[in-house]
Amino acid sequence: MFVNTPMKPVLGIETSCDETAVAVLDGTGRVLAEEVLTQRAEHQAFGGVVPEIAARAHLHYLPRMVQDVLRQAGIGIADLGAVAATAGPGLIGGLIVGTQLAKGIALAGGLPYLAINHLEAHALTARLPDLVPDGARFPYLLFLLSGGHSQCIAVTGVGQYHRLGGTIDDAAGEAFDKVAKQLGLGWPGGPALERLALEGDRATHMFPRPMLRREGCDLSFSGLKTAVIQTIARTADASLTRRQAADIAAGFQQAVADVLADRAAHAMSMMRQRWPAARLLVIAGGVAANLAIRDALTEAADQAGYSLVAPPLRLCSDNAVMVAWAAIERLRLGLTDPMSIDARPRWPLETLAARQAPP
Ligand code: KG4
Ligand code: ZN
Repeated sequence: MFVNTPMKPVLGIETSCDETAVAVLDGTGRVLAEEVLTQRAEHQAFGGVVPEIAARAHLHYLPRMVQDVLRQAGIGIADLGAVAATAGPGLIGGLIVGTQLAKGIALAGGLPYLAINHLEAHALTARLPDLVPDGARFPYLLFLLSGGHSQCIAVTGVGQYHRLGGTIDDAAGEAFDKVAKQLGLGWPGGPALERLALEGDRATHMFPRPMLRREGCDLSFSGLKTAVIQTIARTADASLTRRQAADIAAGFQQAVADVLADRAAHAMSMMRQRWPAARLLVIAGGVAANLAIRDALTEAADQAGYSLVAPPLRLCSDNAVMVAWAAIERLRLGLTDPMSIDARPRWPLETLAARQAPP
């Protein structure tokens, strides 16, 4: 339980990849104002995120966005209670831009600074009071499915993350992006592939389902991705017809959904052993926006006596609401960070416990 002392608004900044995002939440977690700027146009021609371009774009957009969001919230720096920025994991250039601006604002306002772990921010999103009545209660199972991460994590408290399994090769979003690229859908491919799959027949191609029924909840997508790419090569000498592409997209998406449902089922039985009180399967990350995957995971959760909690689509992908919220959760435990803490490209969730304040 946290001590419910009134807390001033918290400013959150997210710059770990290609979304520049700023949000201000009041002390209860209500969103006062937020902005997300997706740098799609900047990276599209390169078929993926170019770190140097991303860092420069963050540098260009971020200061104005902070001003805008504070103005929309109707407050100034003096009204804030703390400033937080994603400090990792992610692309180091962007992380430096976001954390340095946050530290500058904190210094100018004499405010506490919080260096937020991006994965922790995704992990705690389901506890936003407006999202789930009373916020998701600990312990719960988190299935993090983004472009860079696919992990099953038992979340037992703020800063308390236990990795149950994860991908041994590609992340789920990465697999979507690579297959989409082969289908000529551009980048980022996940949403376009999902749209195309709606026109296809998922039974036309029975693609492999790696790791299905394997013990534990590790994931693998590279074999599936290779099988799909080989099918694309076999199906057409020149370019695929739209119908052929749609059938392949639907078959691939169904294979991913089946694998994820199976892995989630295994993760829930692992939870049952160690945290029998857990009843929630929380999904987060860009791939959690996929409706076929949500359906498959809802069914897996039902069968295990769990409920699926899926944040609204806009909070599945990268945003600053989750950063400010993670900061509020940490502030409630009396946790802040020194200005000397650096941005870090790698920062596994399991190492966070060491940052917990002494009881
Ligand atoms: O969490 P996220 O916004 O960024 C990070 O990677 O942190 O996830 C982006 C990933 C991309 O790979 C994108 O293609 C995938 O999520 N994605 C989707 C969908 N929307 C985004 N994949 C499948 N279906 C979608 N609707
Ligand atoms: Zn993310």
